[in-house]
Amino acid sequence: MLIHSRDKGFVHPHASEITPRGVYEGRRDLLKLMATGAAGAALAGWAGREALAGVTPPGKLAALPGAASSVPGAQTMEKISDYKDATSYNNYYEFGTDKGDPVKNAHTLKTRPWTVEVEGLVKKPGKYAIEDLIKLSAQEERIYRLRCVEGWSMVIPWVGYSLAELIKKVEPQGNAKYVEFVTLADPKTMPFVGSRVLDWPYAEGLRMDEAMHPLTLLTFGMYGEVLPNQNGAPVRIVVPWKYGFKSAKSIVKIRFVEKEPGTAWNKAAANEYGFFSNVNPNVDHPRWSQATERRIGDGSSLFAKRQKTLMFNGYEAQVGQLYAGMDLKKFY
Ligand code: MTE
Repeated sequence: MLIHSRDKGFVHPHASEITPRGVYEGRRDLLKLMATGAAGAALAGWAGREALAGVTPPGKLAALPGAASSVPGAQTMEKISDYKDATSYNNYYEFGTDKGDPVKNAHTLKTRPWTVEVEGLVKKPGKYAIEDLIKLSAQEERIYRLRCVEGWSMVIPWVGYSLAELIKKVEPQGNAKYVEFVTLADPKTMPFVGSRVLDWPYAEGLRMDEAMHPLTLLTFGMYGEVLPNQNGAPVRIVVPWKYGFKSAKSIVKIRFVEKEPGTAWNKAAANEYGFFSNVNPNVDHPRWSQATERRIGDGSSLFAKRQKTLMFNGYEAQVGQLYAGMDLKKFY
């Protein structure tokens, strides 16, 4: 079991407690996938490429195709993670602290009706029904590495559009320096919201220039379909150069503020989880190294092959300049 407490933050499981992975069913047939008709145009993107690579097809949720993004850094030739891994090995503490809890428990999350409130220092605040938010800009497919602070990673084809599109529409005021993301905390549908593991609601934040960066994705889907509940339906953020915990799930408020907002993990253990949380192989977590990572699907044990973690998770060319002159050991 993954033990977790206010004081301890993320705690590595013991080797004997790791659920065996990499034993998922054999390869799937692209024709079968296409027969489901579910992924539509997105098939041309990730599915076309991964047909031979053994990605388990989705096909159970509503289609949400996105055109292959031309934003620099939004594509990669790395092997895409299996859909089954991406949807059954999750962190979503509102539904439990074990990696397998969200897929078991998140069916209770009610994703309709759903409203996202945009508030704070903007000229055009407002409430968006999720259906309208989805239509606000063209959906794109972005294939991003997601690197969790715990030392594992996946490669996932997300569907959404740059958060900057929304930000431009709501017109931030000059004194808006940060964007805060507040997520749903509903004790009736989220069994762990009553627990003391974190301060609920789970909240995250970005500096305005980070939020405006084209790679920051307001995300509605993955693998050509809408997000499964356990991955943060109906809308989440994905910030590919930061540790996964910055990518807040099931967002209900986007708030523009002047001061750096408090964030869930920073409040829980400030010495372990800073506000920036940029992926950085040179800055260790106080209790473990961040130099390498285990790609989920590449082997089952702690001794499985690990790969080097890249500065800014491999997005240095795109985002490095945002942090020019900053001491990244201090601003971790
Ligand atoms: N968002 C909420 N609301 N609650 C959470 O517990 N966990 C974070 C992030 N967003 C979390 C969250 C962490 S630690 C990670 S690694 C990613 O979601 C995992 O996203 P995934 O399950 O889609 O891979």
